[in-house]
Amino acid sequence: ELGPYDHYMQKEIHEQPKALADTIEAVLELGFDAALFGESAAQRLAEVEGVQILACGTSYYAGLTAKYWIEAMTGLPCNVEIASEYRYRDAWAHPKHLIVTISQSGETLDTMEALKYARSLGHEHALSICNVRESAIPRASDLVFYTRAGAEIGVASTKAFTTQLVALFTLAATLAKLRGRLSLEREAALLEELRALPGSVQHALNLEPQIHAWAQAFAAKHNALFLGRGLHYPIALEGALKLKEITYIHAEAYPAGELKHGPLALVDEAMPVVVIAPNDALLEKVKSNMQEVRARGGELFVFADADSHFTDSEGVHVIRTPRHVGILSPIVHAIPVQLLAYHAALARGTDVDKPRNLAKSVTVE
Ligand code: F6R
Repeated sequence: ELGPYDHYMQKEIHEQPKALADTIEAVLELGFDAALFGESAAQRLAEVEGVQILACGTSYYAGLTAKYWIEAMTGLPCNVEIASEYRYRDAWAHPKHLIVTISQSGETLDTMEALKYARSLGHEHALSICNVRESAIPRASDLVFYTRAGAEIGVASTKAFTTQLVALFTLAATLAKLRGRLSLEREAALLEELRALPGSVQHALNLEPQIHAWAQAFAAKHNALFLGRGLHYPIALEGALKLKEITYIHAEAYPAGELKHGPLALVDEAMPVVVIAPNDALLEKVKSNMQEVRARGGELFVFADADSHFTDSEGVHVIRTPRHVGILSPIVHAIPVQLLAYHAALARGTDVDKPRNLAKSVTVE
């Protein structure tokens, strides 16, 4: 069932245009309609006064990205917390704040317990974003959006992550519409962007030969830093997690503006620095953060898009996606960091689909 692929992770990375198209299908049909989230969704979502997202690992990073979309588009406050932390603290609660759990498997114990805890604190509405039908977490929720990624077998999450992101973007747009913050023209434009997304993701997949070449250099490293800003900071986090999980190279991610508050001390010739730098409002800031790295001898590996106008120079390597895709850009930029981790793992000879010490579904504390 691997077909032409060597590993499930590779197969699942390449399935993303289809997984995204399948997940988006109903959205393109209905528009940003509450019905996408279940029967009682229109009434429940209309009451929402804030959003509390709970998840673990890669799913948590999807949640971090959603915070940028939700606060910018809906005017609602959005908080994102790691489920295993939330469940053990005296959290502030509001009955009309929507609990959103994100879980590929729908069985992650900490996420399930965080949901139960949120209920006990009085939250009235809970939405699950999940890839496995009828699993525990959606069953315990009032509303559900199933991502249609298909079975994800590789331990490192790939297609589940990008489909979670479109589900969360759909939630942001739907809440915005319910609150009168999405004009018909804007809705049509966002739906067009969603329609174009699988094609843009395919363009990113086509960068694989260039990323493969970079990965050979990474395989010999002991550490790596990932930088991003704004919407692309969670993608830097995801890139660092993918690299750690399957190559066992130590990697950390920072919002690029934090560099000078500590991590810059780590930068020297031996430290590769991956930068997620498409053309967004913070690009000029990112460019000056990159100069801070170059000045200390750090080698930069930059994922950009055609509009960010980078060229290769001494110690600066650039891979560009063909065009800037606006507000969905983090979804497209998840692809190159997945491919980088995958090819670096191959070069190191690690077990890509079953990294040491990790399980696909974490049903213990
Ligand atoms: C990383 C990874 C994990 C999961 C986490 C949550 O590649 O797969 O970090 O994202 O264990 O799992 P789910 O989404 O099933 O709750």
